[in-house]
Amino acid sequence: MASTTSSPPISRVAPRHDLLSNPPHRPLIAPSILSADFARLGEECRAVLDAGADLLHIDVMDGHFAPNLSMGPAICAATRRACPDAFLDVHLMVTDPAQFVKPFRQAGANHCTVHIEVLPDPRPLADTIRSLGMTAGLAFNPDTPIERLLPFLGAFEMLLCMSVFPGFSGQKFMPEVLPKCASLRSQLRDDQRLEIDGGVAPETVAGCRDAGCDVLVAATAIFAKGDYRTQIQMLRGSQTLRGA
Ligand code: DX5
Ligand code: ZN
Repeated sequence: MASTTSSPPISRVAPRHDLLSNPPHRPLIAPSILSADFARLGEECRAVLDAGADLLHIDVMDGHFAPNLSMGPAICAATRRACPDAFLDVHLMVTDPAQFVKPFRQAGANHCTVHIEVLPDPRPLADTIRSLGMTAGLAFNPDTPIERLLPFLGAFEMLLCMSVFPGFSGQKFMPEVLPKCASLRSQLRDDQRLEIDGGVAPETVAGCRDAGCDVLVAATAIFAKGDYRTQIQMLRGSQTLRGA
């Protein structure tokens, strides 16, 4: 097969603290390890990175903010041991995120995203996250009006739009969030990222990219579909669906 001389995926370079604040101008693909085979987690993480993923997304749920219990700092630390060069993007779907930012930093996280629904003013926690040496993200659920976010946009390197309600992988994409993404993108600086998470797949990703999302989280569409390289290329738009 003709070899394409492309730069190595970002994740194969040392974990760039500024990956999300100064990224290459192309969609970043972030496999969520929620759908990885946990019995072979290190192998799975290395495989998706070698297949072209730019970073790893770690979905943390506390069984309270989200109706599922997923993983904690120990899984983050194991992922860091398996992938010393990876950028680890931790998504805290928890009621008390302030309790977890330091343990996840100590476990090797590069970034922490917290939810607006549990923080009247998320700015102090963003400052704490940065003081720990990470970048900060602010997430919102599908039914949260973006007006809740607008006073705080400047305080975060990344915004995360949930296109499903937090809880489980494999849910149906909610296209009604895309107009919110487009509105947010128009109010973000060029050095801020807009991530989308939930039901992102080759069938739904074009709408996400068109709405200005440039960090694409996918669990099922990558880990449950076998050929990681093809799935990642289809999410990035460098391969299209057959017949599309
Ligand atoms: C919240 C989780 C999921 C997961 C994505 O439920 O954050 O959205 O990352 O799972 P898929 O890509 O399978 O919808
Ligand atoms: Zn997530």
